[in-house]
Amino acid sequence: MPARGERALGLRRVSTDVEREKRLAAEAAAELVEDGTSVGLGTGSTAAYFVTALAKRRLDIRCVATSLATEEAARASGLRVESFAGPDALPALDIAVDGADQVAPDRWLVKGGGGAHTREKIVAQAAGQFVAIVSSDKLVDTIGTPIPLELLDYGLAATLERLGHVEIRDATRTPDGGVIADWVGPVESPADLSRKLEATPGVVEHGLFGPELVSFDTNQVINQFAACLLGLGLNEAAYMAEIVRGGISSVDHGQTEAAGALGMSRAQTLRRIVLPQAMRVIIPPTGNETISMLKTSSLVVVIGYFELLTSVQRIYSVNFQTIPLLIVAALWYLALTSVLSVGQGFVERRYGRGVASGPAGPALFGFLRKAAPA
Ligand code: 5RP
Repeated sequence: MPARGERALGLRRVSTDVEREKRLAAEAAAELVEDGTSVGLGTGSTAAYFVTALAKRRLDIRCVATSLATEEAARASGLRVESFAGPDALPALDIAVDGADQVAPDRWLVKGGGGAHTREKIVAQAAGQFVAIVSSDKLVDTIGTPIPLELLDYGLAATLERLGHVEIRDATRTPDGGVIADWVGPVESPADLSRKLEATPGVVEHGLFGPELVSFDTNQVINQFAACLLGLGLNEAAYMAEIVRGGISSVDHGQTEAAGALGMSRAQTLRRIVLPQAMRVIIPPTGNETISMLKTSSLVVVIGYFELLTSVQRIYSVNFQTIPLLIVAALWYLALTSVLSVGQGFVERRYGRGVASGPAGPALFGFLRKAAPA
């Protein structure tokens, strides 16, 4: 009895978590919808949470529904639902949000647990952005059976014979008169199975949704500034790690041993003995890296982040003065790198105190080193 009770408790906990996940995913998706846009509403329990969350936002939006159940729920929540049938319906949607039965890491989805996959695929295809909202129990390593199908009644026996491995579902016809069935044969590759099903006359639609339907707006995952920071930062971090390592290992190990013999802790040895000497080796390449990073920052032009080269490009795309404007950019880079080189000279001199040969700094600014206080 206790085992049964525990099992029952476990089941209840899992299902509560799943419902919570569905609701949270739906609420997050509702936040993606912008005022004045057109929205495709999916079918199923997760899509129902989305309808509720979306209605709460009281946006001025136009919706189309993928099933009668969703249409009724959306209208009851106060959403404006339009027909998606006929030549006068909306030709495209801004966003569609729907649940799924399986989601694989390669972004293949299976939909159609509720038999609405034909309409769901049409709506997903029409949308500029398709967002699948699922609870964690829908995540799979590889796509498997069943794969929902909608079949034409005409020639049904011949279609079934041709496909093999198909079971007709005990479900009512779709609003478009289709017969709901499931592919239960092998799924070696979703792409191959998808092609095979599409090439079979009588298959109205299948529930395999390819990665091209599932969109990720990378700007919502990470903004331009964060992307630049990450890209340039990681690149520089890799070089700097080697420079610092080289600087520290250039300090003779005997000095660490001597510091230990004097009773210094590891932190004190690093701070008072190793780093001051290592800095002489670290500073010159660090200065070079900083100057080179200034120029490397122009690479962010490829993602349109606003910096010197982007501004120059924007100007010459209007006045066609390409070469003069690129020269202007080059002069700015020269001015900025020169200022940094002067700074580098001062820092090198500061860390080179007490070394007879003096720091190896840019020869051009040797006169400034002489002028700088020792
Ligand atoms: C209906 C669907 C559903 O989106 C899918 O079955 C997921 O349903 P639920 O959100 O209830 O788990 O494809 O045809």
